[in-house]
Amino acid sequence: MGAEKKWLYALFCAAFVSFLIFLSCISGFSSSYYAFSLQRRFATPVNHGPGHPPAFAYYISGGGGDSDRIFRLLLAVYHPRNRYLLHIGTDGSEEERWKLGMLVKSVPVIQAFGNVDVVGKPDPVTYMGSTNIAAMLRAVSILLKVDGGWDWFVNLSASDYPLITQDDLSHVLLSVSRDMNFIDHTSDLGWKEGQRVKPIVVDPGLYLARKTQIFYATEKRPMPDAFKVFTGSPWVVLSRPFLEFCVFGWDNLPRTLLMYFTNAVLSQEVYFHSVVCNSPEFKNTTVNSDMRYMVWDNPPKMEPLFLNTSDYDLMAQSGAAFARQFNKDEAVLDMIDQNILKRSQNRVTPGAWCIGGKNWWMDPCSRWGDVNVLKPGPQVKILGDSVQRLLQDLSSESNQCR
Ligand SMILES: *[C@@H]1O[C@H](CO)[C@@H](O)[C@H](O)[C@H]1NC(C)=O
Ligand SMILES: *[C@@H]1O[C@H](CO)[C@@H](O)[C@H](O)[C@H]1NC(C)=O
Ligand SMILES: *[C@@H]1O[C@H](CO)[C@@H](O)[C@H](O)[C@H]1NC(C)=O
Repeated sequence: MGAEKKWLYALFCAAFVSFLIFLSCISGFSSSYYAFSLQRRFATPVNHGPGHPPAFAYYISGGGGDSDRIFRLLLAVYHPRNRYLLHIGTDGSEEERWKLGMLVKSVPVIQAFGNVDVVGKPDPVTYMGSTNIAAMLRAVSILLKVDGGWDWFVNLSASDYPLITQDDLSHVLLSVSRDMNFIDHTSDLGWKEGQRVKPIVVDPGLYLARKTQIFYATEKRPMPDAFKVFTGSPWVVLSRPFLEFCVFGWDNLPRTLLMYFTNAVLSQEVYFHSVVCNSPEFKNTTVNSDMRYMVWDNPPKMEPLFLNTSDYDLMAQSGAAFARQFNKDEAVLDMIDQNILKRSQNRVTPGAWCIGGKNWWMDPCSRWGDVNVLKPGPQVKILGDSVQRLLQDLSSESNQCR
């Protein structure tokens, strides 16, 4: 061995040894971290039902490349009393689903309460096709099966964001009957009658493995007269009793309408609306609002405009619970985090359940106390007023299911 080679060898050995020392430091550090986190990995009791604040089941759905947005949205709407189901459609990769699962597991409070799941076997969602309803009904079925405690189901996509904290939402809905369904609807179909209901379409997502578009049959069908068609926003907040009615199907109405709307364009804008308004038990449980803030182009396009910092003031004062739609990492999301949710990056939205220190280096929600108490914040008044207005409209004008 030449002198130069010996020197290189010594250098290599030294580097290897310091690498080993570095590794043992890291593992020593992480095992002490785990020991520390073990002490507070236990969930505290969660109480559901009458006399306790309402809880929500969130279904957050996105496509390939949406995992970061879904995770951010999850942290923004997280509360230990709620239940969450995350879905990345068939256009996303297995690896992305796995990565999202790992991100979710990395949050100590989520690990302790075990209330977030990622759909492992994804569903196809064809643009404008009925696979949307199939995916949503499946999500509802899973959420009904895994959690008996939630009161309302909320449908979100990766491009949505909350405008209030979960403490506020729960506090406002505390005084509302838990049978109520927040669903924007009308029987005034207008141009939709000819363009959405009468055409017969087929969603190939139901039987073809590769992604394609819906196709139209040459024939159209007459308007149904066995039931009345209602349409409205596909963004909904639905009650548990109504969704049990839809999924368990002891009355045949939800099943019949599902079969009928399988061949309608954009069935997510007609299905739940028509089921709720055609069933005597549920038609007076509707609140005619989707609780979302959206801004539409003139004339409106298929999707609302992307919101930015110019929309912040109107949005924050709107009294809506959620807003859509946002680009990934849009600056206005940071404004919502800072001013409304009081949420720091990569942390869950704080609530009364967070009892950790309020220092900049410590996440207050890394320690938790009683999760069944709420601490309403300043936004609660705005949402409370808007819900109050909606409920007043109901009793005075009874514009439901008309
Ligand atoms: C629910 O969410 C999905 C995914 O974001 C969306 O495509 C659908 O239109 C929503 N509404 C219904 C009623 O399925
Ligand atoms: C719906 O309203 C009618 C009339 O106001 C009432 O008789 C009925 O009990 C209500 N149904 C439910 C389920 O609340
Ligand atoms: C926000 O979006 C609107 C169009 O939707 C645009 O006119 C406006 O300039 C945007 N504002 C900012 C601050 O980017």
